[in-house]
Amino acid sequence: MRVLFVASEMHPLVKTGGLADVTGALPLALAPLGIEVRTLLPAYPRVLERLQDKKPDATIKALFGGTARLVSGRTAAGAHVLALDAPHLYAREGSAYGPTTGQEWPDNHLRFGALGWAAHLIGLGQAGPWRPEVVHAHDWQAALAPAYLALSGRPRPATVTTIHNMAFQGLFPGPMLASLRLPESSFAPAGVEFYGKVGFLKAGLHYADRITTVSPSYAREIQSSAHGFGLEGLLRHRAKDLTGILNGIDRREWDPEHDPHIAAPFSAASPAGKVANKRALQERFGLKVDDRALLFCVVSRLTHQKGLDILMSVLPALVARGGQIAVLGLGDTRLEGEFAAAARANPAQIAFKAAFDERLSHVVQAGADAIVVPSRFEPCGLTQMVGLRYGTVPVVARVGGLADSVIDANEAALNDDVATGFQFAPDSGIEIADAIARASTLFAQPDAWTRTRHRGMRADFGWERSAKKYAAMYRELATK
Ligand code: ADP
Ligand code: GLC
Repeated sequence: MRVLFVASEMHPLVKTGGLADVTGALPLALAPLGIEVRTLLPAYPRVLERLQDKKPDATIKALFGGTARLVSGRTAAGAHVLALDAPHLYAREGSAYGPTTGQEWPDNHLRFGALGWAAHLIGLGQAGPWRPEVVHAHDWQAALAPAYLALSGRPRPATVTTIHNMAFQGLFPGPMLASLRLPESSFAPAGVEFYGKVGFLKAGLHYADRITTVSPSYAREIQSSAHGFGLEGLLRHRAKDLTGILNGIDRREWDPEHDPHIAAPFSAASPAGKVANKRALQERFGLKVDDRALLFCVVSRLTHQKGLDILMSVLPALVARGGQIAVLGLGDTRLEGEFAAAARANPAQIAFKAAFDERLSHVVQAGADAIVVPSRFEPCGLTQMVGLRYGTVPVVARVGGLADSVIDANEAALNDDVATGFQFAPDSGIEIADAIARASTLFAQPDAWTRTRHRGMRADFGWERSAKKYAAMYRELATK
């Protein structure tokens, strides 16, 4: 069965966050289940550079102000990509979304409207011979695809919209409607309109046959005003079509036994290499080399969502207990400044690298004892799953996919030998400090700590389980 993924990022071609990890890995997990996925991706310069086995595919005339061609190709891991080569929209230096990280191109409505438009043409069989049975849009950048298909009035493939983050909705001024080739009649609450604006995600949630998000807890949370960002009513209305399917991690990409980026291989069965990685991380980040210090890490975008400002406020408590922390993060400049200053004041215990560096993220995950993820909300979160695999015990806020992937080391869980990490109530420095204290206490009991760490390493966060759920959904949709 044929499925078209539509997305603005895909690892290893272009990545700013977990969306890319998902679109890079899930198609590979679906292939053995008989689901043939092609992913429609904007042909940013680096996508064309990195794409392998490139072949020209269909041409799309008059795509929002220019001509586009589809370039068919593969990622190194073998995932099939349809790169939408529209130079007037995507041939620009910078990030996928703007001249630099955090900025937006002024024509992003057209850049991503065009992505949805091209997806709808492929869906209708009007762009090349390959015709999907399901069109699966990921996040707001792809979310006009289900709208265009529904509004075409033609026999069309089934559609799915997946929410990776409700905080980003793609909202644009109402008068942009016409340039997006959306009919006047669609500018309504039961359509693309969201409080006087054109809402891309809103459109995807209204028009898609099914809606998914990336964890069961987040599927519940977004139906409340606290996490729904104004779309909770629509999501409650569509609750029977909404499911949460937990993300996985790519077990080949994240494999401490065969990771070319780390100092020494290790696994739960032969864990000895972990300590060499800890020393390597302490050296690389200029921390005091000390096996006995509990070394925390953070690998994150620095945004309000991630709650690192709250973590910042409890660093004094963390270092007072003799702990260390290595932070790899990029984003909010004020927070970058604060972490840099904290590191300058106590370089033996606090280190900060302002970078988005995928290789370095492997070094950090391999070397740390624990990873802190203090998010205010987290649709799924992948770094805690990587942490589990790398024997880096997660200390996480009890929200979204963090709540669904880490088993708190409370007395009952420790007695039953099921704990894998620590959870705390979100949005509170007191709660983070308490979780850090609990982690420190367990770390001081080497046997109990090692058992917790090894249980996490043996837990299964590969994609197979979730891929089966997506495959079942596609099959059910296609028979309707
Ligand atoms: P989000 O998508 O909200 O950023 P996720 O946890 O789902 O959160 O995914 C983040 C992805 O980006 C992970 O693969 C993580 O390793 C990676 N990442 C985040 N920040 C950095 C960074 N500063 N350097 C390298 N990789 C990073
Ligand atoms: C988003 C979310 C993150 C999730 C990722 C992949 O970026 O913030 O929680 O893991 O998408 O689904």
